[in-house]
Amino acid sequence: MKRIIILGSTGSIGKNTLNIIRRMNKHFQVLALAVKNNIRILERQIHQFHPKYAAVLDIESAARLRKKVRGVTVLEGEEGIRSLLELKKADLVVNSIIGSAGLQYTHKAIREQLPVALANKESLVMAGKIIMKLARKNKVPIIPIDSEHSALFHLLKRTRPDEIEKIILTASGGPFLTWRKIDLVNVTPWDALRHPVWRMGSKITVDSATMLNKGFEIIEAHHLFDIDFNKIEVIIHPQSIIHSMIQTIDGEIYAQLSPPDMRFPILSALSFPEMIKNPLKPLGVEKIHRLSFQKPDVKKFPLLSYAYAIGKKGGNLPAALTVADEIAVKLFFERKLKFSHIFNKIKQIVESVKFIKNPDIEDIFKTERDILTRYSYSAQNDRGF
Ligand SMILES: NC(=O)c1ccc[n+]([C@@H]2O[C@H](COP(=O)([O-])OP(=O)(O)OC[C@H]3O[C@@H](n4cnc5c(N)ncnc54)[C@H](OP(=O)(O)O)[C@@H]3O)[C@@H](O)[C@H]2O)c1
Repeated sequence: MKRIIILGSTGSIGKNTLNIIRRMNKHFQVLALAVKNNIRILERQIHQFHPKYAAVLDIESAARLRKKVRGVTVLEGEEGIRSLLELKKADLVVNSIIGSAGLQYTHKAIREQLPVALANKESLVMAGKIIMKLARKNKVPIIPIDSEHSALFHLLKRTRPDEIEKIILTASGGPFLTWRKIDLVNVTPWDALRHPVWRMGSKITVDSATMLNKGFEIIEAHHLFDIDFNKIEVIIHPQSIIHSMIQTIDGEIYAQLSPPDMRFPILSALSFPEMIKNPLKPLGVEKIHRLSFQKPDVKKFPLLSYAYAIGKKGGNLPAALTVADEIAVKLFFERKLKFSHIFNKIKQIVESVKFIKNPDIEDIFKTERDILTRYSYSAQNDRGF
C-alpha cells in the first residue's frame, strides 16, 4: 500500500489521480492533499478519501475548511504545504500544482528524499539542471506524468544513451492547428480553451494553443533524459494516440500508444517501479482508422522555436520564460492581451531579465520574484490559475 501526497488535488491532474486511487484502493492510500483555495472541492475529497492532512495555500480558506472537517489536520500557507513533504509516512508525492509555484515543492520533496511523480513540468523547465542533480545525489526517482515523457521514460529503459538517434515528442497541435495565422488575431479565451482532444486546466490548455506547452516539454525532456536539444524533434499527431517515439541509431522507431487519457500515465507513475493491472479500458487498436503526422508550423507558432532557443541558452532564462508565459496568459484571460501578441509579450519579458549562466535555486526564485514584482503580482496566489 503506497501512501500518497497530492499537491494540486483539485486540478485536472489531481482529480484524475484521485480517480485512479479510488479504483485501486488496495494499492494506494491518500495521506495528504494540498490546494490553493478551492476548499469546496477539497472538502468533498476529504470526505471521500480521509487523508490525515490537508493544506491550503490561502490562509482564510484554510480557516474556513477547519470549521467544516473533522479528523484531518488542516495546514496553511506555503509553509503548511512544505511541511507535508516532511511526513515520514509518505511514500510518494504527486506534484500537480500548476505553474512556477510548483518548483519549491519539487525541490523540497527531493531534499526530503521523497519520490516525486511529476506533472508540474515547470519544475524541470525552470531548474532542470539543479533538480536532476539533486535527485541523483539524493537517489530520488522523478517519475514523469506528462504523457509524452511517461512514454519516453518507458521507451528509453530499453536502450543505452549512445543507441539513441533522436526522440520524437508528439503534439496534438491544439485547437488552432487548422486555423490560418491571420485568424489567430481575433482568438478569444473561449476559443483557446476548446482543446480538440485533452481536457486539462485552463493555463496548460492555452499553452497548448500557443504550442509553448510543447516548447516546455522539449526543455523538460532535455533535463529528464539528459538528451541534447538537437536530438529532440516535435511532430504533430492530432489523434494523440502515440504519446512519443524514439529512433535508435539502427533506424528503428519505437512508439508508445494508449488512449488520450491522463489516467494511464498517472497510474504508471503511481505504481513505478512495479506494473499494476489497469482497471481502465485499454486502447482497441482495431478501432484506430488513422494515425496522421505533420511538421509543426513554426511561423504560426513561434513560441515553439523560441522555447528551443531559450532552452539551449539555459541559465535562468527558461525560468524567465515560464514566469513570462504565466503573466502573458493571465493578461490574455483578462482580455488585456491579444492571443497573437502573447509571443511578443513573453519575448519582451524574457529579454528584460539579467542573464545568469549557472544559477543556483535561489537565483531561480529571485528571477521569478523579480518578474512577478515588476508585474505587480506580489504573491504566488495572485496569479489566478
Ligand atoms: N491537465 C493535464 O492533462 C496535464 C497534462 C500534462 C501535464 N500537466 C501539468 O500538470 C500540472 C497541473 O495542471 P492541471 O491542468 O492539472 O492544472 P489545474 O487544473 O489548473 O490545477 C492546478 C492545481 O494546482 C493548485 N494550485 C495552483 N496554484 C497553487 C499554489 N500556488 N499552491 C498550491 N496549489 C496550487 C490548484 O488549486 P485550486 O483548485 O485551489 O486553485 C489546483 O489544485 C501543470 O504543470 C501542467 O503543465 C497537466
